[in-house]
Amino acid sequence: MEEGLEVRACTRCPALCDARSRIVNGVGPADADLCFVGEAPGAEEDAEGEPFVGRSGQVLDAALRDRGLARRDVRITNCVRCRPPDNRDPTVEELGNCRGYLADELAAVDPEVVVALGKVPAEHLLERSVAVTAEAGTLYDARLGDRTHRVLVCVHPAATLYDPGQRETLGAALDEAVALVDAADGGQSRLGEF
Ligand code: URA
Repeated sequence: MEEGLEVRACTRCPALCDARSRIVNGVGPADADLCFVGEAPGAEEDAEGEPFVGRSGQVLDAALRDRGLARRDVRITNCVRCRPPDNRDPTVEELGNCRGYLADELAAVDPEVVVALGKVPAEHLLERSVAVTAEAGTLYDARLGDRTHRVLVCVHPAATLYDPGQRETLGAALDEAVALVDAADGGQSRLGEF
């Protein structure tokens, strides 16, 4: 396991330590070109120990498949690695406690593009309020730790479950993410080769 990718033990957030079954680390290639960052594990993720394996994950998997990609082609992680009780949003303090782990992971993977899935990760990474639907598909530079990453704003996959109109917004942002990776690879995409 490459340095910086996995957190084995952490007791920084008492409420999350009480609620979690396990720490849910990111999955996918340690040198992925594309890295998706969600909010925090939900019940299924907590049970299985893998990000985005519940209903949101099925939406993400389908959107990747539509673009000729599989889960194993990309890295998938979360801002916070332990399930918040009752599926509440992580607090500012919890996000702060986990920020260094995300910084270490993104520094190790060094993806061409980081896709922020929804409002919590977009605001956490960009450190400002974000109008996710309006800004979906827009690329920004974001400082995390001692690195600058290219962050693409995207709606959360779960948004498409409540509002099917968001499917197009999600798809357009993913098209943009894939195009950015292709352009960074000089038109020779490494996506999908794993
Ligand atoms: N939603 C998230 O933001 N992350 C997950 O891992 C699952 C659902």
